[in-house]
Amino acid sequence: MKFYLAPMEGITGYIYRNTYKKYFNNIDKYFTPFIVTNKGTSLKTKELRDVLPENNKDINIVPQVLTNNSEDFINTAKKLQQLGYDVVNLNLGCPAGTVVSKYRGSGFLAKREDLDIFLDEVFKMDNMKISIKTRIGRDSADEFYELIKIYNKYPLEELIIHPRTREDFYKNKPNLEVFKDALSLSTNPICYNGDIFTTADYDKFINAFPKVKSIMIGRGILANPALISEIKDDNYLDKKVLKDFHDEIFQQYRELFNEDKNAIFRMKELWGYMIYIFSDNKKYAKKIRKAQKLDDYNYAVASLFNEQEIIKGAGLFSDID
Ligand SMILES: Cc1cc2nc3c(=O)[nH]c(=O)nc-3n(C[C@H](O)[C@H](O)[C@H](O)COP(=O)(O)O)c2cc1C
Repeated sequence: MKFYLAPMEGITGYIYRNTYKKYFNNIDKYFTPFIVTNKGTSLKTKELRDVLPENNKDINIVPQVLTNNSEDFINTAKKLQQLGYDVVNLNLGCPAGTVVSKYRGSGFLAKREDLDIFLDEVFKMDNMKISIKTRIGRDSADEFYELIKIYNKYPLEELIIHPRTREDFYKNKPNLEVFKDALSLSTNPICYNGDIFTTADYDKFINAFPKVKSIMIGRGILANPALISEIKDDNYLDKKVLKDFHDEIFQQYRELFNEDKNAIFRMKELWGYMIYIFSDNKKYAKKIRKAQKLDDYNYAVASLFNEQEIIKGAGLFSDID
């Protein structure tokens, strides 16, 4: 099985990726959070920093692009090519209102003729492989049966499917019926993505779909960065390792932003997931959320690590509280 780290805007940037690799080192492919195309000659500073080879040494990454304009896609893909990339991923999943209203991300799924023309154009590029990360429809899962006909016309590097519609956002369950059909209908390699939070979730999924060879995980890894080590080797998360991992990410954000407020804000996003693997976490979650100053943040985190334990086998949305 190949494991991919899902792209997560604001969280799985190069700082998270590098630190993750240092402490856990079990991801086969990392996807960058989406790059919004622009008409200029270079990428925006933040986006460039995230894909610069010197910031991603020895890490297998695939940059992700969000657009519905084939010229812009090609323009951005060429910039990435100059940095040494030979694969780009197209985001056809983002459910955010501001993205969908412009027919980008999962919004593009509702413009299937345009999507077909777009793909026809971008697949004319030389020396650039293209993969797609898709939801199964904008408004309804039935759309997938039209979408797969379009995807099958092109030699995708891979098709990563998060089997929810845009309407679902992150609610409801992944639609495994449609995913099953996708496996039999797709002429391209398929990767599964969605709601793998624990080893039990993984085992259940793989029993149902033994032919799947690659899985992308997002929130499950943010909550429990040792999830893949658990799945592969029964290696459970160690509290000391998690503390070091946390401290190193935080320190790097502080250096990057050169002030604490933004760094603390970033860490709070991460805690939105990571807090769930601790016992009796509610009051600590509140303290971390409320912390504005460095001392308050450090105190809240230190008391969580000192006073609570990591629950073996717990994960995001697990039944253990
Ligand atoms: C905060 C957040 C940011 C995300 N950013 C991106 C993104 O930049 N590109 C993308 O394709 N998906 C993005 N996603 C979706 C995830 O990559 C993934 O498809 C989704 O979380 C389902 O997988 P999971 O259940 O393993 O988390 C984001 C999700 C969240 C919650």
